[in-house]
Amino acid sequence: MSAVWSDSAPGVDERDAGAAVKAVASTPAWFGAIVAAALSAAGLTHSTEAAAAPKTSVDAKIGYCEDCHGPAGQGYYGYFPIPRLAGQQTQYIKNQLQAFIEHRRTNNIMFNVAHVLSPAMISALAERFRSFNPPPFGGAPRAFVATGKEIFQDGLPDANIAACAACHGPEAYGHDQIPRLAGQLYPYLVRALNNWGAERGQHTAQPDTSATMLPIAHSLNKRQMEAVAAYVSTLK
Ligand code: HEC
Ligand code: HEC
Repeated sequence: MSAVWSDSAPGVDERDAGAAVKAVASTPAWFGAIVAAALSAAGLTHSTEAAAAPKTSVDAKIGYCEDCHGPAGQGYYGYFPIPRLAGQQTQYIKNQLQAFIEHRRTNNIMFNVAHVLSPAMISALAERFRSFNPPPFGGAPRAFVATGKEIFQDGLPDANIAACAACHGPEAYGHDQIPRLAGQLYPYLVRALNNWGAERGQHTAQPDTSATMLPIAHSLNKRQMEAVAAYVSTLK
């Protein structure tokens, strides 16, 4: 793993970089910045992807994503909640990778991961993660689930919040640009809703799909976010 810390050493292994972040899972925030820098250095050695994204290189890249996103993209909860990718809509995955690359969605780790991927590789990875179906990660507070189900299915008419199911689908599988929420990690969802306006749609001159969720995320209070996150995180 020491190779990760020797900044621009050629041939730094991506798997080491991912494993490093995972090992860092319970350490302080400054550590993340160092790891992001290490990933950036590692990324430099991987800037050319074969145009056709051959199966062996897709397999290797999937393994690299799994170092952080968990086996079969189930999600992983360490220092950062790392989202589930399994069963996710391909168009949503592509949109988010593009948003990280263009800094419309701000996350240094995922910028470093995504900006070296070719369009062919992005498509191949999105298709592969879509095909995985591990069980939900679990761990949400059960007591919130019933309230969360009501919010998901009926919205909050008094607060003028539409039913989540209207867009995300009755089983929370999403569609096209609208993400699957079923089985997504509870702490990731709470964090995503809480930080929406600060992390997504950051190019005000170039509004994107994140704008649809902005008023919804802003209208939910903390308790409601936790409830709806707990509910969808249990769905298979
Ligand atoms: C070093 C750890 C790490 C690695 C390696 C990594 N990711 Fe991520 N990924 C993250 C973190 C952390 C987030 C959450 C970012 C946030 O909260 O905005 C994330 C978020 C994402 C998202 C957004 C998901 C959503 O539901 O909005 C996508 C898509 C994604 N990653 C794809 C990938 C792919 C594809 C790979 C492999 C090429 C990969 N990631 C490798 C850490 C990693
Ligand atoms: C009008 C349609 C619409 C409604 C209603 C809606 N959403 Fe969304 N939601 C979206 C779209 C579109 C996105 C993708 C945003 C993007 O591309 O950044 C999204 C994304 C999300 C995400 C991010 C998922 C991830 O993997 O990062 C969460 C969480 C979410 N919605 C929760 C909810 C909840 C909870 C409700 C109900 C209170 C809800 N949504 C209602 C359209 C909707």
